Amino acid sequence: MSYTQAGARRVAIITGASDGIGAELARLMAKKGHDLALVARRRDRLEALAAEIAGAGRPSPLVIPLDLAEASAPEALAETLRAAGGQLATLINNAGFGLQGQVAELDPGEQLKMIDLNVRALTALTLKFLPDLIAVRGRILNVASVAAFLPGPGMAIYYASKAYVLSFSEALSQELAAKGVSVTALCPGPVPTGFQAAAGMSSDLTKAMSFVQTSPQAVAEAAYRGMMSGRRVVMPSFADWMSASAAALTPRSLLLPMIGRVQGAR
Ligand SMILES: NC(=O)c1ccc[n+]([C@@H]2O[C@H](COP(=O)([O-])OP(=O)(O)OC[C@H]3O[C@@H](n4cnc5c(N)ncnc54)[C@H](OP(=O)(O)O)[C@@H]3O)[C@@H](O)[C@H]2O)c1
Repeated sequence: MSYTQAGARRVAIITGASDGIGAELARLMAKKGHDLALVARRRDRLEALAAEIAGAGRPSPLVIPLDLAEASAPEALAETLRAAGGQLATLINNAGFGLQGQVAELDPGEQLKMIDLNVRALTALTLKFLPDLIAVRGRILNVASVAAFLPGPGMAIYYASKAYVLSFSEALSQELAAKGVSVTALCPGPVPTGFQAAAGMSSDLTKAMSFVQTSPQAVAEAAYRGMMSGRRVVMPSFADWMSASAAALTPRSLLLPMIGRVQGAR
């Protein structure tokens, strides 16, 4: 456990730590000696992960169950961290979800929740903790996606939300460089996690993506390496890099129907 001059615990917050990429980041970062605060809605899963980490002889993570789609969540998180004597040194905005389907057919409230979580909560937490991060020359890791590089008929709002995350993170990395804070955008392609079920993805689509998927452990390792070396953008695999590059080179008139077909939104 590391301490600031004032004696506060220097903590890394990981949102969406109850599953998938966030849980693997938590395991890896605990191994590397980071003191963690784990955030998600499912308290039981966070507590089980915290017990696993403490059981391995690492500092016991703070467990902070919160629905980050609620506008009051960032303040509640900051307050809980303060009360526990923690000072933020690393902010990992990983919580997010997608929905497969056409905009006109999906539930409007559920679609707006994607913006509340993927965009608003990520931004609100960044704004809330920026003074702390600047004070300790800390780090931000924002989980975007390869989806950030292209429009995604069949998951339109999800792709757009990730384009925001990438754009915001890259611009912020430039603004904060002089203040000693690094900002990294993680852009994985398909990763087998709870994401596919939560998005209501068809088994055909999940199967089609399995050829280019990267494990959550490998994604967490690439993310951690990239964040610690201050990289602006991290793509965990060559296939991810190829997808992003191909998206940039392919005319939209070809790309849009192609993505629409793959994602069932002809
Ligand atoms: N899997 C992929 O193919 C893939 C590819 C590129 C990018 N990503 C991105 O990677 C990130 C992590 O996703 P994953 O693949 O690890 O999916 P996952 O296994 O479904 O994990 C999502 C995490 O977000 C949390 N979460 C969801 N809604 C929340 C809310 N309202 N408040 C607080 N926490 C919430 C979930 O916990 P609770 O349910 O307990 O709240 C869970 O811990 C997401 O931003 C996703 O967009 C995923």
